[in-house]
Formats: sequence, C-alpha cells, structure tokens
Amino acid sequence: MLNRQFWNRYAIAYRKLIGFWAPHQQMFRDVAVALGIKSSMRVLDAGCGAGDFEVSLHKQGIEPQIEALDFSPRMLEGARRKCRKFKGITFRKADLSDPLPFPDNYFDTITCLQTLFAMPSPRFTLTELVRVLKPGGKIAIVEPRPEFSSGKIFRYHLEAQNTCKLVSLLKLVPYLPLIWLTIKCNEIISQECKAFSDEEIIGLVERSGMQVIYFAKTLADQDHLLIAQKVDNEDTVKWGPCPFLYLLKLILFCWR
Ligand SMILES: C[S@@+](CC[C@H](N)C(=O)[O-])C[C@H]1O[C@@H](n2cnc3c(N)ncnc32)[C@H](O)[C@@H]1O
Repeated sequence: MLNRQFWNRYAIAYRKLIGFWAPHQQMFRDVAVALGIKSSMRVLDAGCGAGDFEVSLHKQGIEPQIEALDFSPRMLEGARRKCRKFKGITFRKADLSDPLPFPDNYFDTITCLQTLFAMPSPRFTLTELVRVLKPGGKIAIVEPRPEFSSGKIFRYHLEAQNTCKLVSLLKLVPYLPLIWLTIKCNEIISQECKAFSDEEIIGLVERSGMQVIYFAKTLADQDHLLIAQKVDNEDTVKWGPCPFLYLLKLILFCWR
C-alpha cells in the first residue's frame, strides 16, 4: 500500500502539474456538472490532494462550504497556498482509513477523486462517506480504469492547446523533471494498487448502500466517473412495506 511518504514525494510534482493538465481541468468540470454542485451546498472532498478541484470550482464561480481532507501534509500545504484567497474552504489532515470526524447525514454532496484505489479498505472508506452523506445526497467517484494510459492523457492535453504542437511541447520543457517524477510515481501506483473494472467499481459502490445513477468515462477516457445517490431510507420506510404497493406490483407483474 502507498504510504504518506510516497504521497508527500508525489506532491512535489502534483502541486505544480495537476491544475495545468487540460484533461484534469475537464475532469473537475465534469464532476461539478454531474453532481450539480451549487454555492449553497456543504461539500466533502475526500482526498483533496493539492486543492485543484477547489480551484476549478472557484473558476466556475461555484463557492460552496467545503471540508477538504487529505493525509499528506505536503499536498495540504500546496492546497492551502492555492486556495488562500477563497472563502468557505477548510483543509484538514485526516486519514480516510479512519472513521471520519463528522456526524451522520452531514454533507449535501461528496467527491472522492482518484483516491479510492489508494485505500487499504475501499469498502470501509466508502461506508464512512455514505454515513456522513445526507439521504438523497450524491457522491462522485473518479478512479483510474484498468486500461489507464498516461500517454493518452498527454496527447489529449496537447490536442486541447490552441497553439501548434511544437509550441505546446516547448512549453512543457521547464516541467520535464516534474513530468519525470509523475511518470515514476504513476509506475509505482500501477504496481501497488489495483484499478477497478466497470463491474468492480459499480459493485463496490452498490454494496456500500448507494444507487449508481450515472456511469461514464472522464480524464481523456482513462478514468471512470461514477455518480451514486444515497438511498433515502425514509422513503423505503414510507413506501417499502406498504401492502397496497406490493399488491399493485403483483397485478402489474401478472398483467405483463
Ligand atoms: C491521486 S491524488 C488525488 C488528489 C485529488 N483528489 C485530485 O483529483 O487531484 C490521491 C490523494 O489521496 C491522498 N490519500 C491517499 N491515501 C490517503 C488516506 N489514507 N487518507 C487520506 N488521504 C489519502 C493522497 O495524499 C493524495 O493527495
């Protein structure tokens, strides 16, 4: 499993590069749109890294109350610096493999972006996320697909630039040492962590008491984007055991 030291080292490149890549910027926008995040919401960003999702929300003019958690002090340092001028964001050091420091049903919406794969028990982390999410609230999960290729992300980035390819490549020259560090860290991640297949990620989320309502690709098609909703138990209590509904279902079933 990847420890805090690994993420602290990766933070050296992550803090500078992630917000700069076009596919990541697009992925953050995809998440905000798919969740329908509004400024009035209370949001949990679980595994916030260098705060690039928070920066993206701000650029989109969305300013919710955000609790952003990460266990890497170096990532958090970068995130606090990037977001120092934004209001309503609290960055906290927290380990997502421990119980979360929030009451039940506390958040309107939750993001867990490119983080679940690094958890010793993704099931435990998800169960905790579901606990602190309000009934009916939505969670966005972004996870690398088994076919993940950094090369495809790199190509998408170059194609998204308005200048010619040579100019775009030249602009990357000052970042070469950081790009090299990113490639090395991604190699370690792919050796140490398992990428979830479509069925595995959907099954994991459903077993944690969520209903998957949207499933697509993002990050130049290299990652899954899954939106799930916490089942509103109140509804189940109100309608689930109602004998009239069972009877209606039975009639419809026989009718067909
Ligand atoms: C690949 S980064 C993703 C960061 C951010 N969500 C993004 O999309 O840019 C994964 C993040 O998860 C954090 N992380 C890994 N294991 C963790 C744990 N057990 N508890 C809290 N954060 C953890 C790392 O420090 C890192 O910042």
